[in-house]
Amino acid sequence: MSPITERSFESGYHAPVMVAEVLDAFTGADTVLDCTLGGGGHSLALLETGASVIGIDRDADAIAEATARLSAFASSGSFRAVQGDFTRVDEIPGLRGESFDGILADLGISSSQIDRDERGFSFRPGVVLDMRMSASGDSAADVLNGATLEDLTRIFRDYGDEPRARRLANEVVRRRGTREFVTADDLVGAIRGAFGANAGPSDFARLFQAVRIAVNDELTGLERALPILRDMLTPGGSMAIIAYHSGEDRIVKHAMRAWSTACHCPPRQPICTCGGVALGALVTRKSIQASPDEVAHNSRARSARLRLWRKAA
Ligand SMILES: C[S@@+](CC[C@H](N)C(=O)[O-])C[C@H]1O[C@@H](n2cnc3c(N)ncnc32)[C@H](O)[C@@H]1O
Repeated sequence: MSPITERSFESGYHAPVMVAEVLDAFTGADTVLDCTLGGGGHSLALLETGASVIGIDRDADAIAEATARLSAFASSGSFRAVQGDFTRVDEIPGLRGESFDGILADLGISSSQIDRDERGFSFRPGVVLDMRMSASGDSAADVLNGATLEDLTRIFRDYGDEPRARRLANEVVRRRGTREFVTADDLVGAIRGAFGANAGPSDFARLFQAVRIAVNDELTGLERALPILRDMLTPGGSMAIIAYHSGEDRIVKHAMRAWSTACHCPPRQPICTCGGVALGALVTRKSIQASPDEVAHNSRARSARLRLWRKAA
């Protein structure tokens, strides 16, 4: 796995990542779907170019924050916020059948989600293990207290890039036998118990991120969403996806590459039924990373990977 880790858990900086690159990719776009509205930074930049934007977020706090920030654009009719899960965009009333010149997803969690202790994403002492982006479903504590040893091993290995995943999973199971996991301290304690006192913030960030990905089913959702979003692009429209995790980035890379080859039938399908015409093209062969200048000013940009794809006209 590549060494992409979650954006740092430092707080206080809320600048959106790679805005110039996204604006460049969406040059001339009249309509944009921002699948991950967050604080509305990317949407604001796009609205300022004159585009109309619909912003989705599954988090009610993000919808409230961005709605307040972008209220002038909402009043003029160029912006609308929709609370929902973009991985189920086809089920969101009012969006089914819509098409857009640009579709953006800036994956993961926002600064304000990390900063708010009550959301339970951080490993700061005393934070209750929640990590749900929306208010429903199992929390991080539920996963840590209820998942099987096998599932915990898979979460730490596949989502946390952790070679000693089994050891950590064993430690979680051993500890929860005497006391349930409730706060971040319990998971930090298990990580230290499994790996020794040398385990530090970068381990906590990576392994907390692994639990968050499991809690929100982020990779499965992304895989489901990509072809649906692709089909929502107008001919010649562009898709921009910013990933902070190697597993997410790999899913985006494989999907965009497959859509850009002449035959994009499922790999195991014996006969080509797609007509052998590429659906579109990669804008750049490799992912785009934030400039050294942006990384110097915004540490969260360090692990960001932007991939761009353009639908055939
Ligand atoms: C990195 S932040 C986006 C920041 C945003 N681009 C900005 O400029 O402020 C990611 C946001 O996506 C939201 N999100 C993550 N997965 C989602 C999903 N499946 N559906 C809807 N929103 C999602 C999170 O709640 C969070 O607010």
